[in-house]
Amino acid sequence: MQGRVLVVDDEKNITFVIQAMLERERFETLVFNRSSEALDAIASEEVDLVITDLYMPGPGGLEILEYCQQNFPQLPVVVITAFGTVEAAVSALKKGAFDFITKPFDQVELLGVVKKAVATYQQRMKEPIIFFPRQPGVTPQGGTAVQGISSIVGASSQMQDIFKIIAKIAQSPSTVLVWGESGTGKELVAYEIHRQSDRASKSFVKINCAAIPATLIESELFGYEKGAFTGAVASKPGRFELANEGTLFLDEVAEMPLEMQAKLLRVLQEQEFERVGGISTIQVDVRIITATNKDLEAEVKSGRFREDLFYRLNVVPMRLPALRDRKDDIDLLVKYFLGEFNKKLNRGMQGITPETLHVLRNYNWPGNIRQLENVLERMILMCEGSVLSAEDLPDELSAGLPQKAEEAGTEESTNLKQIVRRQTQALEKDLIEKALEETSGNVTRAAEKLGLSRKGLQLKMKELGIRREVD
Ligand SMILES: Nc1ncnc2c1ncn2[C@@H]1O[C@H](COP(=O)(O)OP(=O)(O)OP(=O)(O)O)[C@@H](O)[C@H]1O
Ligand SMILES: [Mg+2]
Repeated sequence: MQGRVLVVDDEKNITFVIQAMLERERFETLVFNRSSEALDAIASEEVDLVITDLYMPGPGGLEILEYCQQNFPQLPVVVITAFGTVEAAVSALKKGAFDFITKPFDQVELLGVVKKAVATYQQRMKEPIIFFPRQPGVTPQGGTAVQGISSIVGASSQMQDIFKIIAKIAQSPSTVLVWGESGTGKELVAYEIHRQSDRASKSFVKINCAAIPATLIESELFGYEKGAFTGAVASKPGRFELANEGTLFLDEVAEMPLEMQAKLLRVLQEQEFERVGGISTIQVDVRIITATNKDLEAEVKSGRFREDLFYRLNVVPMRLPALRDRKDDIDLLVKYFLGEFNKKLNRGMQGITPETLHVLRNYNWPGNIRQLENVLERMILMCEGSVLSAEDLPDELSAGLPQKAEEAGTEESTNLKQIVRRQTQALEKDLIEKALEETSGNVTRAAEKLGLSRKGLQLKMKELGIRREVD
């Protein structure tokens, strides 16, 4: 395969001709006769070139051009123009179209433009996006985090909502339950709530309930008096006391043993407790933030988590989105971490190639931001230049790279989209052949059976290389 080309024109015979010319030259084509469908496909499919008519019902060619420029600035757009609309084509060029082709099409001219456009795209994908341009005489230093202001990066609407909630609830003493998959930034958010609260000048104390043996959680939380147990040679305050007037962050709260849950509930209700082995009651003013990556409601249902404690903790629930659900933030995070690692590793990384960014954007990030951070650190350590490129991608991600032309045609091709497409075609072929058999090769009746127009079926047959035996 030479490349994937998306073609949109409301006239079927135009798209048909272009498709035929391109496929003969081993370009893969995605053909649309409705521009709105083409726009959806541009957003979801990976193509190397868009060929569009200028005048169509619904969004026209200029709108398609504009959409591509905003969302896929490297993607070339070629406009189709008829004799008499050359002026419009010229104005499209001024707006950034790659080139135009004129009707009626000339195979050589069309292929020339398409090959050049596809090559340009593949080249553009390798040209770096520079986040941190090097200035003469200045030591390269990245860094976009504004000191003192939140270091939580996120421009997506999901993160904007999170920022709003943080600002709204920071001042209240209510308990907050932060839910989210591992690595989504739960601890960062908990700290940010503390930082924006009027407790900011007091301590932010954290305890990870999963990391401390069940038998020690109680003395960790509440402290102990001298002689309370073997080894208690001196009294020690617990985290609740240390967090007095500040914030206590209980991480992985779902892991807390049931017995401790009862004790925690009491402190939450009465804001008082005793140290282990102690008799005097200690009063504290502590704001509690908890976090979990488990579905606490399910834990309640299965009896592993106390229902009353759940309601007590879940006064303000906050759900952090998975990274794969806010892919728009990936560019920003890459830039942010590049800057951070420049400082931490004393490097002068300047940017990344669009091709590489594209792979990062399309990966599903089971370990979320923590994983992105680790992957970038590793890539920066491996990178020999100042721009991250596809070669620096770790194996688990480089599977997402578009295949090289030589590999693409082989049977072992693992590109999921290609496999799906091939399977769909095989299925369509089966169904059409069966319908033709049942109607003794009568295309009109077979089309009826399949819910297609006669013309539609003929096109499909041609596309799939099906010959009818009799008509
Ligand atoms: N929005 C963000 N902007 C910048 N850095 C982030 C963001 N979210 C998370 N991080 C970084 O990602 C890493 C993981 O974040 P954090 O520890 O808060 O996640 P977590 O949800 O508590 O993870 P876990 O479930 O593994 O404990 C940290 O290094 C953190 O600084
Ligand atoms: Mg955490």
